[in-house]
Amino acid sequence: MKKAHVLTGITTTGTPHLGNYVGAIRPAITASKDPNVIPFYFLADYHALIKCQEPERVKQSSLEIAATWLALGLDTSNAVFYRQSDVPEILELSWMLSCVTAKGLMNRAHAYKAAVADNELEADADPDRGITMGLFGYPVLMAADILMFNAHKVPVGKDQVQHIEMARDIASRFNYIYGEHFVLPEAVVDPNTATLLGMDGRKMSKSYNNTIPLFEPEKKLKKLINKIKTNSQEPGEPKEPEGCTLFSIYQAFATPEEVAQIRIRYAEGIGWGEMKSVLFEYINEHIAPARERYEALLEAPEHIEAELQAGAEKARAISVPFMQELRKAVGIAKIRR
Ligand code: TRP
Repeated sequence: MKKAHVLTGITTTGTPHLGNYVGAIRPAITASKDPNVIPFYFLADYHALIKCQEPERVKQSSLEIAATWLALGLDTSNAVFYRQSDVPEILELSWMLSCVTAKGLMNRAHAYKAAVADNELEADADPDRGITMGLFGYPVLMAADILMFNAHKVPVGKDQVQHIEMARDIASRFNYIYGEHFVLPEAVVDPNTATLLGMDGRKMSKSYNNTIPLFEPEKKLKKLINKIKTNSQEPGEPKEPEGCTLFSIYQAFATPEEVAQIRIRYAEGIGWGEMKSVLFEYINEHIAPARERYEALLEAPEHIEAELQAGAEKARAISVPFMQELRKAVGIAKIRR
């Protein structure tokens, strides 16, 4: 049986947090162990440049994200784990795809439209203010990421589904003009992956600045958990677990039996202070072994780099010959008699 290619990218602009872990990293690592699948997981550092012009931050984020995935046990003997910028063929493909992509298609991208809509709220609106060609063409780069490795399935959050549909459109257009070169990818949105609530009770997200970093050192983790916002109910009052950040995080880590037990304790009126210490103990114990590996990796970044180089080599074993094929298909290959 031919193995399915499953591909996803992680933009290197932040530090992985508990929400990233349960929503994306944990399921991806589980999937990396499936022998019927070849996972392609990459650090989307070219994408990072679209949103972030702080070199130190992009650099540090790449390091932290790579260390996180390795510390959590990503199986790099099966998965192809690489840095996007180590595979320059992706940019070359991005250009080829740009040349078959209708500008009108890009005009409809949600991220771009939202930026224009924000600008139009201002007095003396300039709809183009702050919008770079990188942002405008972002779905093309993402299509190149996906099509380069003929990914069948692309696990993403709901916000990215439109981009995968655009990648399909672009692939179809290219195939129509130049012949069947690309697999049409499908987005996979898992309705069962947990969304965590953050420090302030809204969805945990970098854009709300309410996250708990996954590998926060023990003392800081405890402090952060103690700062999670709760309501003013007293110990002894029965409490509602749904919509409670403490419960939402506990539920994402604990077994169903443990969660059932905690529901009973909510009904019995567990105090917030008590619940915070239950949560801290649980999470801390769960994370400690991976956190040790993470810290060790950050102390020895050459191991991280070696993994990424090995991944890039595997990726380029595909991208270099494929790009040759595509160059030939569009008529820019070397002249031969
Ligand atoms: N744009 C995605 C995000 O912000 C990251 C990404 C880049 C990606 N290239 C990709 C995801 C290719 C899936 C496939 O989350």
